Amino acid sequence: MSAVKKIAILTSGGDSQGMNAAVRAVVRSGLFYGLEVYGIQRGYQGLLNNDIFAMDIRSVGDIIQRGGTILQSARCLEFKTPEGQQKGAQILRDRGIDGLVVIGGDGSYQGAEKLSKLGIKTMGLPGTIDNDISFTDYTIGFDTAVSIVVDAVNKLRDTMSSHERASVVEVMGRHCGDIALHAGLAAGAETILVPEVPFDLNEVADRMRQNFDNGKRHSIVIVAEGVGKGDDVVEAIKKRQPSLEPRATVLGHIQRGGSPTPFDRNLASRLGDFAVRSLIAGESNKACGMIGGEMVLTDIEKVVATKKQFNMELYELASRLSQ
Ligand code: ADP
Ligand code: F6P
Repeated sequence: MSAVKKIAILTSGGDSQGMNAAVRAVVRSGLFYGLEVYGIQRGYQGLLNNDIFAMDIRSVGDIIQRGGTILQSARCLEFKTPEGQQKGAQILRDRGIDGLVVIGGDGSYQGAEKLSKLGIKTMGLPGTIDNDISFTDYTIGFDTAVSIVVDAVNKLRDTMSSHERASVVEVMGRHCGDIALHAGLAAGAETILVPEVPFDLNEVADRMRQNFDNGKRHSIVIVAEGVGKGDDVVEAIKKRQPSLEPRATVLGHIQRGGSPTPFDRNLASRLGDFAVRSLIAGESNKACGMIGGEMVLTDIEKVVATKKQFNMELYELASRLSQ
């Protein structure tokens, strides 16, 4: 016997590549297990606007390869209030919807937690490029964002080598340095600046100068946005070592678009199916994640209260290899 009969799905907060694959998995698994499945347009805003529609098998065709989210996303201040949350829960109850899958980041998870306290069974799926959610090794979209950064750095290397210049690349991640770390290691960056590790820009500039003097032809600095602006890093390097001729590149929202990698599609497919099966089994107020390749459930309260651990081992490896 399933603990839920009608479930809904929404995408919330900043979008990420692979959200569509997750929506597809939730819809198709839900239908496979005999549930009715509803889509909610524009996140919690759409819930409050009663913008809810039935989804069938074909409604999620031809989306696994697409970036963005067919359900669209929105930020909704009203839903942060107890009145907004009551209204949302009532709209779901009126429609007989007893389960909700929320794909988003920490903020979206908190909305799911509030709804579960009001009697709706909820599941959170980690949908953000930032990889800043605890109790999952990876979030949906992170791998694609890292690939985009690596591809951009490959291109920058070409022109920087020709001119023997330094390139400073600002990447996203809000307060988390994971995009910078993983892209920096994969792209062979000389320096990776993240909010989790203190640094001295004068030392960074001096080391870059030394490496050029020792025969390097280019220098790549990856700056996580949580550290500050790429332009400011360029100014600081210029002031200390003007001969490096540093140039800033801000990758911005490019990192959040495009077709998801196979890794993100598969992660999203597994997590979406796992969320549905967990709701059917009677679980609620849980975040779905992947740890060591296995699907895991963790209380949403615990997930939002725990800061994701930074991988210092990987950071030190990147430093050792960047001489
Ligand atoms: P993300 O999910 O990517 O962290 P936000 O922090 O912008 O993005 O949150 C997305 C939406 O989730 C918000 O616009 C709001 O509707 C809802 N939300 C955020 N925090 C809370 C909260 N504490 N309680 C209820 N809903 C919240
Ligand atoms: O959380 C995803 C993210 O892309 C962050 O990396 C970035 O700081 C933020 O969203 C940008 O938000 P917006 O799309 O509102 O500019």
